[in-house]
Amino acid sequence: MPKEWHSPGTDKGFSYSEILRLFVPEYEELHSGVVEVLLSQQSDQSSILVLGSGEGEDAERILDRIVDSNVVCVDNSEEMLDKTAKRLKRFSGRYRLINADLLNYEPEGSYDSIVSVLTLHHFDLGGKRRLYGHLIRHLKGEGVFVVGDLFTYSQPKLNERVLKEYERYIQSHPQLDDSLRQRALKGHNIRNINSLSSELDILKSIGYNFSEVLYRQSRVALLYAMKNIQSLPD
Ligand SMILES: C[S@@+](CC[C@H](N)C(=O)[O-])C[C@H]1O[C@@H](n2cnc3c(N)ncnc32)[C@H](O)[C@@H]1O
Repeated sequence: MPKEWHSPGTDKGFSYSEILRLFVPEYEELHSGVVEVLLSQQSDQSSILVLGSGEGEDAERILDRIVDSNVVCVDNSEEMLDKTAKRLKRFSGRYRLINADLLNYEPEGSYDSIVSVLTLHHFDLGGKRRLYGHLIRHLKGEGVFVVGDLFTYSQPKLNERVLKEYERYIQSHPQLDDSLRQRALKGHNIRNINSLSSELDILKSIGYNFSEVLYRQSRVALLYAMKNIQSLPD
């Protein structure tokens, strides 16, 4: 993973969010699903950690929909954090921005929820296990860990089919030129990404008693995990 991530397409007049929406057609489902999971919790949702917060898409939705929430956004791109600060201006006092590399990140304090969308897929299994192992210690007993990301299938043939479909989608997209198409296919190739079933295994092995896949479509999935199964909402 590069030390600092730069958004593609800004030289072609696209905002970062617009590019992400083009590259990941399920972008809206992932982000709206995150907020739905948080809203469905019976536990308090006043402190929420967002990892790889980008331009603040999740932070804005959470601050907007969950009235008493406070959000900490972590990203290692100054460009992204600057954009987030502008976007979240109206929520002044309810958010904090931290420039840190998630590869070596250890949060301070504990959170009601930890959320990450389209960020952790570049971590190898060892790196993920390490990060998730740190994070679970900073999640309150009733807390929820929500991940929306790219995942592979366990069957190689399914992966090939999904990749072919994605390539067709990108190659025929009228808003993308050749360089953006290449960028999309390079950055979103799922061959080096872990499977959804290994993700669920990691969560179980580090101490989450319950996990559930809320949404799965093509290359992406949205899942959430809880430490305490007794605290499940009805
Ligand atoms: C594809 S973007 C997703 C942004 C946002 N979650 C969204 O869905 O709109 C990935 C984000 O993760 C950040 N990122 C990537 N690797 C990182 C790392 N090692 N540490 C911290 N942030 C990282 C990037 O700067 C970028 O903002």
